Amino acid sequence: MPEIGIGIIGGGYMGKAHAVAMSAVGAVFDTGLRPRLEMIAATSPERAQHYRRAYGFTRGTHDWRVLVEDPAVDAVVIAAPQELHREIALAAFGRGKPVLCEKPLGASLDDSRAMTAAAEASGVVNMVAFNYIRTPASQYARQLIAEGAIGRLTWFRGEHTEDFLADPEAPATWRTRGRSNGTMGDLAPHMINAALALIGPIDRVMADIETVHETRPGADGPEAVTNDDHGQVMCRFTNGVMGHLYFSRISTGRKMGYAYEVTGTKGAIRFDQEDQNALWLYRAEGPEATRGFVKILMGPDHPDYLPFCQGPGHGTGYQDQIIIEARDFLRAIETGDPVWPTFRDGMEVNRVVATAIASSDARQWLSTSSV
Ligand code: NAI
Repeated sequence: MPEIGIGIIGGGYMGKAHAVAMSAVGAVFDTGLRPRLEMIAATSPERAQHYRRAYGFTRGTHDWRVLVEDPAVDAVVIAAPQELHREIALAAFGRGKPVLCEKPLGASLDDSRAMTAAAEASGVVNMVAFNYIRTPASQYARQLIAEGAIGRLTWFRGEHTEDFLADPEAPATWRTRGRSNGTMGDLAPHMINAALALIGPIDRVMADIETVHETRPGADGPEAVTNDDHGQVMCRFTNGVMGHLYFSRISTGRKMGYAYEVTGTKGAIRFDQEDQNALWLYRAEGPEATRGFVKILMGPDHPDYLPFCQGPGHGTGYQDQIIIEARDFLRAIETGDPVWPTFRDGMEVNRVVATAIASSDARQWLSTSSV
């Protein structure tokens, strides 16, 4: 079985998720390429050695350039903060190495453009880690919509809401500094990617974005918050569908409110990540008295469920999305077949974010082609 040497940059929340996924993916999906955990990079030699031991890598380094240039590292996973994505990706493509990059692709649209140009010039596999769209339920929703199960689409409502900064007294951190770490830069990309996947490209937006808590306790007294807490975006898709998006990190009570509703002429679909093993489907057929949203529990008949579990309704979880993602990345490297979402797809997400920010500043509708 051919092996592939994996290098992961970052050992935190997502670095761990990708390390676990690369360890498990061969067993779950019987992949043609078997990942070998070759090297992990972190900010200090101590942290790098800690992650190496904990996750089972052969080597650790505090210099991500060493990892990118190492001949035994065949593919690079970027799980470091977004401000570093561009520099790392460009270095990896310069070495001809495939890259799986955490979301958002770039810290800005400019970063994403440069990364997409480098990816396409290199010709190697490039993929953005939008994991939530890979749940069996969201894959099934895409399938139902594509098959026309709910007829002609008329409306999309999507949101990504959490409450990790709902408390006004929560202290200032890196999350409250810099546009790319705000709600639009950090949370919005997942649901924008879902909107583009489920409905299609967005033509224009009208956004209203706000910093509700303008200062937070800092080390030396109140510190100014330099990014947004929440934002809403009216949008019109290129295919004419009307939509609304809402993103928030101050949504009291919401822990993982990645949720959407798609309405069509023959039915409707609802999904909520807090109940990620269920998809709600309404079909406008049969006697009115029997009609209603049906809760479909995910099972072996739904996309990518069976490799994890034979029992219907038993469920998959967050880590499983990352394993599915790893399978798709490895398969593209092995076969040369197209993978989704590419860096270009990730750049289109950044474009919607940039247009929404410009629209909120200008207080007017703006076309996504204007940025
Ligand atoms: P984290 O703070 O938990 O981990 C970041 C890691 O990057 C740390 O291990 C740190 O040592 C490493 N790092 C920082 N600077 C470095 C440098 N110069 N060289 C080498 N390593 C360096 O952050 P988290 O939450 O894992 O975020 C990482 C990326 O993942 C971000 O782009 C974030 O937006 C994304 N993310 C994606 C999620 C998803 O569900 N897809 C969820 C959370 C974050």
